[in-house]
Amino acid sequence: MYFKREKELLLTEFRNRYPNEVYKLAFSRLLKPDPFRIISKEPNLLMLGTDERDLFVPFVRSRLERHEGCAELLDIGCSNGETTLLFADLLERGSAISYIDVNDAYLAQYHDTFSSMPGIKLKRGLKCDIDTLTIYSDDKTFDGNAFDVILSQHSIYFVSNLRGFLNWCLNKLRDGGSIFLVFADEAAGYTGRSVATFLEERDQVELERFRRRIELRHRVFSIVDSCVDCKSSEISIRRFLDRHDFTLASAVYQRSKLYGHTLSDIIALAFITALPWLEKYDITGKVDHVAKMISANPEFVSLSVELDGERKRMYSVIEPQVCLQITRKAS
Ligand SMILES: C[S@@+](CC[C@H](N)C(=O)[O-])C[C@H]1O[C@@H](n2cnc3c(N)ncnc32)[C@H](O)[C@@H]1O
Repeated sequence: MYFKREKELLLTEFRNRYPNEVYKLAFSRLLKPDPFRIISKEPNLLMLGTDERDLFVPFVRSRLERHEGCAELLDIGCSNGETTLLFADLLERGSAISYIDVNDAYLAQYHDTFSSMPGIKLKRGLKCDIDTLTIYSDDKTFDGNAFDVILSQHSIYFVSNLRGFLNWCLNKLRDGGSIFLVFADEAAGYTGRSVATFLEERDQVELERFRRRIELRHRVFSIVDSCVDCKSSEISIRRFLDRHDFTLASAVYQRSKLYGHTLSDIIALAFITALPWLEKYDITGKVDHVAKMISANPEFVSLSVELDGERKRMYSVIEPQVCLQITRKAS
């Protein structure tokens, strides 16, 4: 039996739950603040479940520091604002933020986070599903806006019309404005591999759909062998969109990871994906599949124990991410 105890432990948590409850329980492991740092009031709060933020926030910050203007910002898939708060000191006095999410609760929390912040104006919070084309085709949405900065951090997964989405974003930028796009390389990462191997054995149609989205992202952003080359990526995005009014100002591939205190945590993290919503299959089979995958082939997801650093002694799996800055230029 693979990880019998770890599976039982996790199933006591996940069994008889709705998909969004399973997702939330899994996600709670991801952005888990380090309690020791809270006690010692360390300003740089370490997240125990992932170092994605530790890596992409400096990327975005260093470019925002040099960015010409940050007066109008659009935050896509904004969540509760916790991440954007990490850039708030770089915004100009009087900066206006517009924000989009599908989840009402997040929009309300985002509002609470920023509404009392001096110097920042919350312009428009919009409940919208970025998977539908409505916002892209509705020219009145954010009419008159020419954003200096658009953030789309770990939200592109919910977009099925990549061309429509990128065009919409570019059209909403003023000349010299930038989109910051951050997303995980699901082909090489633990979460993507968990979903793909689960579907491989059960649902070829769904697997095809899942792979197609990832492959499109790889092709459009020219992600090859866990690398992204800025020049080739720019050529390929231009070809895909059939427009040249932008440059790819920066592109980096970061070897971020997911972390857990226990193997149950690691198995749980596979559920911050579409897995909870594959409702044809029961939760026991899903947990069993992930446990089997990591125990039979730990190298496939680089399952390790951290030997040093801030997350020493924690289990980790690979979850690389790509960070891009696309800057609009005069057409
Ligand atoms: C992984 S979180 C990233 C949050 C934030 N950008 C950050 O970097 O911390 C993904 C966000 O996308 C939102 N989201 C999920 N599906 C969406 C959809 N179809 N349309 C709009 N937002 C969506 C979620 O509610 C969540 O806030």
